[in-house]
Amino acid sequence: MKTPKLPPFDYQPKKYAGPSAAEVLAQRKQFLNPGIFLYYKEPIMFVEGKMQYIWDDQGKRYLDGLGGIVTISVGHCHPHVLEAANKQNETLQHSTTIYLHPNVGAFAEKLASKMPGELKVCYFVNSGSEANDLALLMARAYTGNYDVIALRNAYHGGNASGMAVTAHSTWKYNVPHSFGVHHAIAPYPYRGPYGYDDADAGRKYADDVKSLIDYATPGKVAGFIAESIQGVGGFVEFPSGYLKQTYEYIRAAGGVCIADEVQTGFGRTGTHFWGFEMQGVIPDIVTMAKGIGNGCPLAAVVTTPKIAASLLGKVHFNTFGGNPVVTAIGKAVLEVIEKEKLQENSLKQGTRIKEGLEKLKAKHPIIGDVRGKGLLLGVEMVKDRTTKEPAKAECAAVLEHAREMGLLIGKGGLWGQTIRFAPPMCITQEDADFIVDVFAAAFAKL
Ligand SMILES: Cc1ncc(COP(=O)(O)O)c(C=O)c1O
Repeated sequence: MKTPKLPPFDYQPKKYAGPSAAEVLAQRKQFLNPGIFLYYKEPIMFVEGKMQYIWDDQGKRYLDGLGGIVTISVGHCHPHVLEAANKQNETLQHSTTIYLHPNVGAFAEKLASKMPGELKVCYFVNSGSEANDLALLMARAYTGNYDVIALRNAYHGGNASGMAVTAHSTWKYNVPHSFGVHHAIAPYPYRGPYGYDDADAGRKYADDVKSLIDYATPGKVAGFIAESIQGVGGFVEFPSGYLKQTYEYIRAAGGVCIADEVQTGFGRTGTHFWGFEMQGVIPDIVTMAKGIGNGCPLAAVVTTPKIAASLLGKVHFNTFGGNPVVTAIGKAVLEVIEKEKLQENSLKQGTRIKEGLEKLKAKHPIIGDVRGKGLLLGVEMVKDRTTKEPAKAECAAVLEHAREMGLLIGKGGLWGQTIRFAPPMCITQEDADFIVDVFAAAFAKL
């Protein structure tokens, strides 16, 4: 099999003259959090990015198939985003909500225009974890209830409340953090009790939420939180009808429904701008991060005026939330998504790649499941299609092979058994074909 070649790209990166990867690694080992992990046997150091491509310190170009963990939405150093950031950086870098500044209001109005129903009040924070923390506070303040239902296989952040609603042992420290949180069965058709062949799977999984309400809570809950497709969990898509039925159960128990759109928002799923729209529901609170800022620390919570009113009476303040630079960037990102029709492109290229992956599944028994929407695609690898034993080492090997061929991809799932693919939404058809060719070559090498 011929080694696939990256499509040509007319851009010359600067020659890198900084410290070597070995020096940076040594520095990191001595001075940084020892708990962070690196991808690849031989760590890569990236020093420049342009649109869907990224260069290492040796000048080697890669297609960024993971988009900095689902964060680069419109492309690395996109010119329109850069212009907005640079202009604001030269004018005023910081102000805060105790003063007026035009950027924060302009961005909030634009973001609210993308939201359905009564979801019109925006709060800006710095990370997805903070956004979920605030959403949980809102749910509890508004309802007067404490219990929260989340899902197994979820990831919602690394702070105390994010860790509480997360349900992967990998990310949970052995400290008390989940008081009042109950985790329902993940609506995971490939591995869960109700499979793709069960037309009633959505309702059956939702019934587990109802059972938790009845057995594990006082019968009243503050709310329910779920990603619209589980990201870190390996791009798990819920069966149709799941959220609709679950939202009914939660609202009947006095709770509100929170959609975590940190990975699924901003058009990435192709068919819809927000992931929850795929399930035909409107949440009461939506949290977002990552793609909203295309790489800058920006996150948001959007809710209804009625829920927002429940936080009045105390001051909810966030020093950098709504900072003039990040909100200029956030608005520019939305403008690019619209102008360059990136949601439509996600659907077009994502469908093409998924078709290619389905063909590979027919050929390689190690591919247990191909799933996802738009440019949020997962390939779950198993040693045996009957036992579904996770093929963890093989998944890591595919990542290494793809890296050698110039494609960055990620992995997810409890055992690191699922390839995750979420490139910037600006990839071309040539990139899409390159990706499928790299996967084909990587699987052939196993
Ligand atoms: C779905 C989801 N929610 C929340 C978070 C937490 O975001 P952050 O790392 O910005 O705190 C993440 C991060 O990966 C995520 O994937």
